[in-house]
Amino acid sequence: CGIVGYTGKNQAVNFLVEGLKTLEYRGYDSAGVEVLSTDGELHGVKCAGRVAVLEERCKTANPVGTTGIAHTRWATHGAPTDKNAHPHRDCSGRIAIVHNGIIENYRELRSYLSRNGHEFASDTDSEVIAHLIEDAWAGPAKGDLLTAVRNACRRLEGSWAIAAVCADAPGQIVVARNGSPLVVASAADGAYCASDVTPLASVTSHVIQLENGQFGRLSQAGEVEVFDSEGLPVAEPSAIDIDWDASAATLGGYADFMAKEIAEQPEAIERLLSGRLGEKGILLDELKMTEEELAAVDRIYLIACGTSYHVGLIARTLIQTWAKVPVICDYASEFNYEQDVLVTDHTLCVIITQSGETADTLAAARKMHGMGAKVFAVTNVLGSTAARESDGVLYVQAGPEVCVASTKAYTAQMVACALFALRLAQSHGVMSAEEVATHYQDLKAIPDAIREVISRSWQDKQAAAVFRSATSALFLGRGVNATTAYEGALKLKEVSYLHAEAYPAGEMKHGPIALLEPGFPVVAIVPADRVHDKTVSNIQEVNARGAVCVAVATDGDESVASLCEHVLWIPPVADELLVPIVAVVHLQILARYVARTRGCDVDKPRNLAKSVTVE
Ligand code: G6P
Repeated sequence: CGIVGYTGKNQAVNFLVEGLKTLEYRGYDSAGVEVLSTDGELHGVKCAGRVAVLEERCKTANPVGTTGIAHTRWATHGAPTDKNAHPHRDCSGRIAIVHNGIIENYRELRSYLSRNGHEFASDTDSEVIAHLIEDAWAGPAKGDLLTAVRNACRRLEGSWAIAAVCADAPGQIVVARNGSPLVVASAADGAYCASDVTPLASVTSHVIQLENGQFGRLSQAGEVEVFDSEGLPVAEPSAIDIDWDASAATLGGYADFMAKEIAEQPEAIERLLSGRLGEKGILLDELKMTEEELAAVDRIYLIACGTSYHVGLIARTLIQTWAKVPVICDYASEFNYEQDVLVTDHTLCVIITQSGETADTLAAARKMHGMGAKVFAVTNVLGSTAARESDGVLYVQAGPEVCVASTKAYTAQMVACALFALRLAQSHGVMSAEEVATHYQDLKAIPDAIREVISRSWQDKQAAAVFRSATSALFLGRGVNATTAYEGALKLKEVSYLHAEAYPAGEMKHGPIALLEPGFPVVAIVPADRVHDKTVSNIQEVNARGAVCVAVATDGDESVASLCEHVLWIPPVADELLVPIVAVVHLQILARYVARTRGCDVDKPRNLAKSVTVE
């Protein structure tokens, strides 16, 4: 979910709605605003659906006032309906809150509050917060909103970022953070709060990040005060400067963000690679580890979710092949409940998370810290929770990624992990300086190879026709490109809602082959590498069952051209371990075309959120 708040000189609703639009990647199944008007009343507008629906409603309802809070939701408790949309109010209708996170003890709180006369208007866990503030306001807090919010938070278990307003505390917003991200900022025209820096990029370059357990009070004069859990002022809250160009988050002539972000991949990778080779080899000072510490690393855990997990699978091969260090790669949501985690004095945990806010991944990092391991983060978002809580952080610098389905962050993260693998190989003394330099040059050639793939998008457009009336698809690949198959299937599912699954090609005969029938689409990733001929045999098995094979193959591969109706051609890549970074681009473009032919909204697929901040 995403939160924004504003109190100042201007009409609040304008910033609130625009701010929510930039946060929609955090969820978009319902949205709402609550504005504190000059007549001393709250004016709320909320509805199921996207922020665009809310924007229309606001035009009619026109909530006037210069203090307000707003929310875009990704449902956890309670269906995405009007009544479950945030903000939520107390019984008196004078207090309103927005919440991101999960209140784990909401059932107990709700029955306690119900017994004490509170009536609930929604099915959400969040609504209890408004009622707890109401009790505190009337009781121990004696009309002080900050104290009331602090008292309410003492009763909560779980995770939260909260913004609260009260009709009897005009010009004030009180915020609280525990486990879910929240930033606040002071600007010439007022004070702001938001789930992350994106909505604030156009108003200020300096933001304060609340720490867990902290509270903030925003005043209409633009003042921002931060307090600790005891209510004592924090003299030097943690601040960052945003250097993101606000225009980077606009479409700039592209039909959708997915198209724009696919096109941005070559530049993103060039930016990341620039100046990384020094006299002593790969420069990766972000690791914040001494040469001795790096040389001593004897085991690595790579932990991530979704697309970033696929980065982890590729990174595992690169690290084990190049640096000869054993790697365990796991889904964060699984890892967090495993009891067989083996941490030595020299275990390093690398979390891969483009948003830096995925709750499962953050929990994994905390678990590893608790077990004494160092944690290194690979992320795209400056100042994200992952970045702040890790011992070292490598920013992949892909720029804001708006489309829910990750494209440029995926390829940039793979390149970041390749740099890390080379750096590790160097410190373990298993790779000569010349070899490191050769690998670096191979990486440098990737952006042009991706440009070439993008210029061949017409091949993907033609192949997309194969999927128009399909109900399912199978992706196959071997070695590192089994992962390309996993990622290709995930992209297709995410944006086109077409069921797809992926298997290592050699496993097809052990089950999935039963799916094949005339017209069934199979995507085979079969570049010129050591397992090429084996995968070609699998394509023959596909053809023998009348299924339609779309192949990703290397320029000039006659054997594949003669077998497949559609070939998505990639230029030759010097190192076969780097092929996934190039080959996946065809699958991104293919998924987008399939989604468009099936009439799907590629940027905001149903039920998904770009950043899942609940476990
Ligand atoms: C969500 C998104 C996925 C993404 C995953 C991990 O589920 O829908 O596209 O891969 O989160 O996100 P992260 O920000 O941790 O890389």
